[in-house]
Amino acid sequence: MTKFDVVVIGSGPGGYVCAIRCSQLGFKTALVEKYNSLGGTCLNVGCIPSKSLLDSSHHYYDAKNHFQTHGINFDGNLSIDFDQMISRKKSVVDQTTKGIDFLMKKNNINVLHGHGSFVDNETIRIEKDEGSDLVKFDKAVIATGSKPALLPFVNIDKKRIITSTEALDLKEIPKKLLIIGAGVIGLELGQVYSRLGSHVEIIEYSDKITPFMDSAVSKELIKIFKKQKIKFYLSHEVKNIENIGPNVIVDALDPDSKKVTFEGDYCLVSVGRRAYTDGLGLENIGIIPEKNGKINVNEKLQTKVENIYAIGDVIKGPMLAHKAEEEGVLVAEIFSNQKPHIDYNLIPNVIYTWPEVASVGKTEEQLMKEGINYKKGQFPMRALGRSRASMDLDGFVKILAEQKTDEILGVHIVGARAADLIAEAVTAMEFRASAEDVSRMSHSHPTYAEAIKEAALAATEDRPLHI
Ligand code: FAD
Ligand code: NAI
Repeated sequence: MTKFDVVVIGSGPGGYVCAIRCSQLGFKTALVEKYNSLGGTCLNVGCIPSKSLLDSSHHYYDAKNHFQTHGINFDGNLSIDFDQMISRKKSVVDQTTKGIDFLMKKNNINVLHGHGSFVDNETIRIEKDEGSDLVKFDKAVIATGSKPALLPFVNIDKKRIITSTEALDLKEIPKKLLIIGAGVIGLELGQVYSRLGSHVEIIEYSDKITPFMDSAVSKELIKIFKKQKIKFYLSHEVKNIENIGPNVIVDALDPDSKKVTFEGDYCLVSVGRRAYTDGLGLENIGIIPEKNGKINVNEKLQTKVENIYAIGDVIKGPMLAHKAEEEGVLVAEIFSNQKPHIDYNLIPNVIYTWPEVASVGKTEEQLMKEGINYKKGQFPMRALGRSRASMDLDGFVKILAEQKTDEILGVHIVGARAADLIAEAVTAMEFRASAEDVSRMSHSHPTYAEAIKEAALAATEDRPLHI
């Protein structure tokens, strides 16, 4: 029976990055994955395929709606080859997952394909079609990720009533797509299909979209999405979803508790994700998941079993690929007696719609709740020359800073390339910069980043230069 210093279960961004860092630090490392393709949710059915379809549909939307204004005309008709769009997405996923195979080889990591489960606190069984193997470990890392959360009364038939996994691999463009949940998946995939011509209706339980984001962001976003013809039904409680032949019926209660019925040809259920630990043999090592299914860990990400750690979506915190990666590195460095640290407040959150949305640190609502005195500076994207040149006028940068010290506490961006802009805010906040520090740094012109400088000027002394 082979013995490893570290066995990581799950090859998502948490698991494969942890395995690489363990190997870099000199540990004999194995990575267990039940699917043939490495990369987990993120590479196979999450971040990468969704961004691929967002990019393709964005090109189509621009060609249809904006090219003429730029003086670019088509002689023939513009049309969508949806099979080609899906097949491009597949090839992007294939290239990316093959890249992980390469990284595993390069770092001498033993990839063990099969379903991993704990036999005891030093042995893992790996079950494959051909039979099962046992491996021994000094330390194990659980990185088994998450699956879509389900509503108790809904049968996901994967044909008409679908999760994000099926929505990323449809055979046709829905005529009318009903979406339950106006969170990240609902907005990203809602925008993909809306751009491709689907009539999209989003039914949300809360009274605002993206309820976890700063309220100013939610308000700006709903205005923008309504302009893009996506319909929202807020404060609606979904009661039943049924496939009635070619169509799906959704029954919900509106804010006055009156029954309303929606009908479409597909219904995407995107109401969050749940930690995945099925068949992991946790009972054999005395670990009982919390009520929400997550595995409890201490600040070192160690479970109650001394030599078993857990990272990524399967533990507390935001379910994000870069959060899982940071935790993978942290655990490996703890194994080699280093003292790594993650500031969870500075893990950025991004929605890859267009305009993009990105935020880091505290929202205004959190600061109010925590009784922290703050000031704010906000700058609209439409005041930038760069935004006028590209016709990306929607959105703003909002900076929240401590009232007396001027330290930046939160940055919230809606706008073109917000996903990339947020890195400046993370850097500034990691170094505990003040709004004035940022406002005194040169930002190249013309760029969207100038909005960060201007919002910082507005937060420091209410003296933006361009409004
Ligand atoms: P996962 O990526 O879920 O990987 C877990 C792996 O463990 C899987 O490969 C699974 O097969 C394997 N596994 C589970 N149990 C066993 C077992 N017993 N034996 C062997 N193998 C096992 N996050 C972002 O930061 N940015 C984005 O743009 C983004 N987009 C997303 C879009 C969609 C549609 C979805 C669904 C998610 C998206 N996410 C995004 C979230 C991101 O995918 C997750 O946060 C991330 O994948 C979590 O990484 P992980 O390593 O914890 O787990
Ligand atoms: P989410 O948590 O982002 O949003 C779920 C939404 O559904 C919330 O607005 C919630 O109020 C609503 N909801 C919950 N129950 C409901 C009900 N019964 N009826 C109507 N609405 C209901 O979850 P989502 O969109 O499923 O995404 C899951 C996770 O995947 C995200 O939290 C995120 O961690 C990750 N993800 C990240 C992406 C990114 O970083 N760009 C992209 C996609 C997913």
